[in-house]
Amino acid sequence: MSKKKKLYQAALGILLAAAVGALAGCSSQASADSRQIIRIGHNQSTNHPTHIALLAFEEFIEEKLGDKYNVEVFPSELLGSQNEMVQLTQTGAINFCVASNSLLETFSENYKLFNLPYLFASSEAYHASMDDPAITGPIFESTKQAGFEAVTWLDAGTRNFYTVDTPIETLEDLRGLKIRVQQSPTNVEMMERLGGSATPMGFGDVYTALQSHIIDGAENNEMALTDNGHGDVCKYYSYDMHQMIPDILIGNNDFLDSLSQEEREIFEEGFKLVNQVQREEWVTAVENAKERAENEQGVTFLYPDTKPFQEACMPMHEDMLNQYPDLAPIYDAIQAYNEQYPAEQ
Ligand code: GCU
Repeated sequence: MSKKKKLYQAALGILLAAAVGALAGCSSQASADSRQIIRIGHNQSTNHPTHIALLAFEEFIEEKLGDKYNVEVFPSELLGSQNEMVQLTQTGAINFCVASNSLLETFSENYKLFNLPYLFASSEAYHASMDDPAITGPIFESTKQAGFEAVTWLDAGTRNFYTVDTPIETLEDLRGLKIRVQQSPTNVEMMERLGGSATPMGFGDVYTALQSHIIDGAENNEMALTDNGHGDVCKYYSYDMHQMIPDILIGNNDFLDSLSQEEREIFEEGFKLVNQVQREEWVTAVENAKERAENEQGVTFLYPDTKPFQEACMPMHEDMLNQYPDLAPIYDAIQAYNEQYPAEQ
């Protein structure tokens, strides 16, 4: 993203915060039709499963509570970068946003768990773990003191490395390459352990950084190739399968607490719908992205032996459990799903 666009977005965020703050003082003027506006921000395009799922939420809430609430979904970082949107949700300037689990570890250390590389043995183990409230509950509620809580999770597939012109087939190939990672200490450490040079930056800046060769590559799911155009620049995508990091829909506490019990039940149904629609859409979206990347963008998909990548990262598991012993029962519950749904050989 250009500096100009960033400045524009930051200014927009501040203006929005000021406007919402002012409106809080005179809510009768909140909108011409006096319905309360519920603002939801995210950083994906309007084609993305996340946007489609949030539109389903908008429709559902307006169908059930349309006399009171007007839901507005803002895609494509229109309300700022993910980091900025989390802060806007924290202060109540907006009501909800979608944030990668990666970023949330700086708001509550419990989130570090889902950022661990090679935590889940398979997609099935990942989905079963994320669907188990005994696993997600203690993590999702842990940001309450920070002003927000997680209301549901969204699939963001598997993160893999992709590069402009270096096929990554072994750890050696990564050595010294500048790779964009998300802005989280866990991701920086992972990259260092894998031998690359971690370059943390916001998602919206990655395309320009790749194009201008400020970085040699990045890591993400297949949608980043097509939906964000990274496959126009990066010609090798390598399935090392290092992370399955969920996206999290977070909501402002004060807003959620302001709902009556009946309204809250409807919102809870809406959150379930977001999860269901997003995951259904995700399956075909990834298949289509892969096909488009291969056939239209000329991206080559590689399938390296993931074992050395995994071995390089495994000490992070033990370090985390030593540092945060309270997370051990949740970690163990995930391992039980890993045994039930092991990796395909
Ligand atoms: C994925 C994820 C986003 C995240 C992005 C990133 O696209 O769904 O939430 O922002 O990766 O790498 O920053």
